[in-house]
Amino acid sequence: MRTPMLAANWKMNKTVAEATAFTTAFLPLVADVADAEIVLAPPFTALAAVAAACRGSDVAAAAQNVHWEPGGAFTGEVSLAMVRDAGASHVIVGHSERRHLFGEDDDAVNRKTRAVLAAGLTPIVCIGETLADREADETAAVLDRQIDGGLAGLAADDVESIVVAYEPVWAIGTGRTATPEQAQQAHAHVRRRLAALAGGAAADRCRLLYGGSVKPANAADLSAQPDVDGALVGGASLDPRSFAKIVDTCRKAV
Ligand code: PGA
Repeated sequence: MRTPMLAANWKMNKTVAEATAFTTAFLPLVADVADAEIVLAPPFTALAAVAAACRGSDVAAAAQNVHWEPGGAFTGEVSLAMVRDAGASHVIVGHSERRHLFGEDDDAVNRKTRAVLAAGLTPIVCIGETLADREADETAAVLDRQIDGGLAGLAADDVESIVVAYEPVWAIGTGRTATPEQAQQAHAHVRRRLAALAGGAAADRCRLLYGGSVKPANAADLSAQPDVDGALVGGASLDPRSFAKIVDTCRKAV
């Protein structure tokens, strides 16, 4: 039995005051949720404030990115010691916006994933095909490449403890969601590939989140799929009531 996870990716949104106001409004709405893990990923500047506001609750804080090196001359980058110090327990790695807008490749995703694990935090590793990939019938090949490259060298118990988010690029921020059948098909494929990489038991325990235009209205059908263990939510996670509704809907449907 996999515990569902609902993660909010706020991207480049919310000041410290806005992030704190969200958290203050959101925590009471999910105070009774004991059967799902909830993660908030604010921008770096608001990470410490959100983590502090969540202390004493079951809601965790995540960084949206990290550098794999422990420190040094890397202007504009943030280390794992820094995100841990800010109170994060999770890190989003390889989000499609990092890959497509900032040139992150599978090798960088792999370095980050291994560094996050070595630091004792949980990576949420994002994978997903573009529309061109899907139309060229390349979805499975792209997912395989991202899994094999991004997760290279991970032990079975690492694979068991990470979270993988399948986010078709054509569904992110577009209002166009994968159908529950498309999501299930991709998730089942990802789980099979993880099994080939790390064994069936580890693959079976690894949580696979769906991401891409998840909303309160479509969250139940997506989460009801057997290999969908929750969601990574962008736009619809910016409002506390909307994200709380998604949490409630998903945990009942999983
Ligand atoms: P979206 O973003 O829900 O706004 O499509 C999802 C994501 O990028 O993680």
